[in-house]
Amino acid sequence: MPVTTSPIDATPLPRLPAGFVWGASTAAYQIEGAADEDGKGPSVWDTFVRRPGAVRDGHTGDFACDHYHRLDEDVELMRRLGLDAYRFSISWPRVLPNGTGKVEPRGLDFYDRLVDALLGAGIEPTPTLFHWDLPQALEDEGGWLNRDTAHRFAEYAAVTGERIGDRVKRWITLNEPFVHMTYGYAFGVHAPGRALMLDALPVAHHQLLGHGLATAALRAAVPDGQVLIANNCSPVRLRSDARSDQDSAAASAYDVLHNRLFNDPLLTGSYPDLSAYGMPDRSWGGVVREGDLAAIAAPLDGLGVNYYNPTWVTAPNDPAALLPFDLAEPEEPYQRTTFDWPVVPDGLTELLTGLKDRYGDALPPVTITENGCAQPTGLDDRARVDYLSGHIDAVARAVALGVDVRGYFTWSLLDNFEWAEGYHQRFGLVEVDFATGLRTPRASFEWYRGLIASQRS
Ligand code: FCB
Repeated sequence: MPVTTSPIDATPLPRLPAGFVWGASTAAYQIEGAADEDGKGPSVWDTFVRRPGAVRDGHTGDFACDHYHRLDEDVELMRRLGLDAYRFSISWPRVLPNGTGKVEPRGLDFYDRLVDALLGAGIEPTPTLFHWDLPQALEDEGGWLNRDTAHRFAEYAAVTGERIGDRVKRWITLNEPFVHMTYGYAFGVHAPGRALMLDALPVAHHQLLGHGLATAALRAAVPDGQVLIANNCSPVRLRSDARSDQDSAAASAYDVLHNRLFNDPLLTGSYPDLSAYGMPDRSWGGVVREGDLAAIAAPLDGLGVNYYNPTWVTAPNDPAALLPFDLAEPEEPYQRTTFDWPVVPDGLTELLTGLKDRYGDALPPVTITENGCAQPTGLDDRARVDYLSGHIDAVARAVALGVDVRGYFTWSLLDNFEWAEGYHQRFGLVEVDFATGLRTPRASFEWYRGLIASQRS
């Protein structure tokens, strides 16, 4: 494999295949601000951030990066970076303030302008339709516990596709339905803040059904478009002192819940049998109706994979525990990000080759739709460069091992509102001063710019 060297960092990185897409990602609630401007309705995050104690230091996304008013400046940053594509999310309640029915033209106008600015800069717009900011009006009707939300999602996909689908050809339906189900509905640490534990499982199915129905709506509105979904995937590892078959069983159970519950129905048309892994069926089985799986398994143009780190598990300490695994810490002294997440680049190669082994020809081309790290404030973010370099190298290794990976979108272009952590975790290639909105590119920005340029040359 020919080797290219970026001008900023001497670490040589293998050249990814011709046509490989270099991108960066953000999400609406995390950057836009303008929380109630131009007719936008409230989302579950606008509500949740006002709950005392829900977000560190009471931070909110009311202002965030003020991207809503700094669209041109941000697109100019992306042009300087040399991005092929930009993954952003569309705020559902900006487009349909009540989630359904009346469309807000000023909301659609904003995304229309963003799309035109991106295309003018030679950057391919890659919107995600749902990155966790459900219209509060739909949450009031049960949110993703309510099957009807899947139909409302398809309505929203059609409205959006009809407006910008003449120019937008790569679409992502959902962001990380696993994380939204667990953090939002099982543990209650994200909006909408419901702590239902395994009773949150219908949220998995209704999101996936929404994906399937929205895919059909997008195919109708944008016949030459591509449709992807962005799943958070995590290879599951055992500690080296794992003792028993019970530990292996715990790893399989965790893998089912985190990975297979969301990938199997899309790629094989069926759900794994949770009861075979020690999870009670309870409210789960009844929500899956005839025809749902066929809608969910509609062919995808690509699988988006968001990767941050592997997950270590052991058998549960308490055999009567609700969940058939305990989360564990690795005993290896991995470097840690400020989020305390271990830095494990080879987990990404393991994940990608594991997907190929599991799904074979049913695996569509993969795009890394998120990967990045939180690092201390400051412009000389050497640790971020090392993280990105190691993970891009891990992608190249997977490609060399035969996995069809088509692109890499780093998380994130800008420092932004990191959900329950507020503004405390800085994931940006660009530092943002949240008091003034001032943007300053970091060393990692220059490094990524150099990498993209050298990969193209
Ligand atoms: C992912 C989310 C994204 C961001 C990163 C750090 O799970 O999709 O919005 O918060 O984590």
